Amino acid sequence: MTRRADGSAGDADYGVIARRYSDYRRPDPRIAAAIHAALGDARRILNIGAGTGSYEPLDREVTAVEPSSSMRAKRPDTLSAAVDATAESLPFPDGSFDAAMTTFSVHQWRDLAAGLAEARRVTTGPVAVLTCDPARVRDFWLYEYAPEVLDTEARRYPSVEELTEGLGGTTTVTPVPVPLDCSDGFNEAYYGRPERFLEVGARQSCSAWSFVDEPVHERFVERLSRDLADGTWDGRHGHLRELPALKGSLVLVVSLPVRTP
Ligand SMILES: C[S@@+](CC[C@H](N)C(=O)[O-])C[C@H]1O[C@@H](n2cnc3c(N)ncnc32)[C@H](O)[C@@H]1O
Repeated sequence: MTRRADGSAGDADYGVIARRYSDYRRPDPRIAAAIHAALGDARRILNIGAGTGSYEPLDREVTAVEPSSSMRAKRPDTLSAAVDATAESLPFPDGSFDAAMTTFSVHQWRDLAAGLAEARRVTTGPVAVLTCDPARVRDFWLYEYAPEVLDTEARRYPSVEELTEGLGGTTTVTPVPVPLDCSDGFNEAYYGRPERFLEVGARQSCSAWSFVDEPVHERFVERLSRDLADGTWDGRHGHLRELPALKGSLVLVVSLPVRTP
């Protein structure tokens, strides 16, 4: 597998994205609660594509896998050091973990089927995948301003069917509401705070923006700034500033293994 200078193994360069990631992508406690509930009472947990450690439960034994050295370096000292490996080839024996989790990562894996099979191989219990449903990403108002970005996201995110088939076992797919003050700055997190998109760091912390050229960023900032200044955005979407949570594209896919009697 081709890896970039810092070891990034997916389609995006985390050598660049890592610079501001922890400033903008802080785990949101309400989303964390949904993930932790899915992990049940598992004690040994594997976090794949762990990045800076968002959503890792602090009261369990967590093993983190992260190919980008830039992201590994940003993990707080309170968390375990991450193993340099990729989802597609996990360096652990079968059944090493009680549960596995992966958040905002599967859309970047070079070989999704291999990564999901590996997650299942090394895990005896639930595998929880937090991701976005590509069938829904274009429903967001951002599509009016930066269609290139959401087209990129829709292309990259695997379908829910690909995930459930790849994981096998008994699967559930649960929409995860995005809170108005969500602390994890993925695109939909700013549904009611459009001004946040004008910050370069906010865009830089979402990998989809790294695939569009600078003129797209410039056009986006110019149009959104104008529509915010003259009230056009609020006329169309202002109700979102008060909406407590957005039912958007965020989903939690959980697979439980089929037990042989
Ligand atoms: C958007 S970040 C998410 C990080 C963290 N899970 C979170 O929720 O903040 C995506 C992460 O997936 C990692 N990644 C990309 N391709 C990967 C692969 N093939 N195997 C494992 N991790 C991968 C990236 O290096 C990056 O740290």
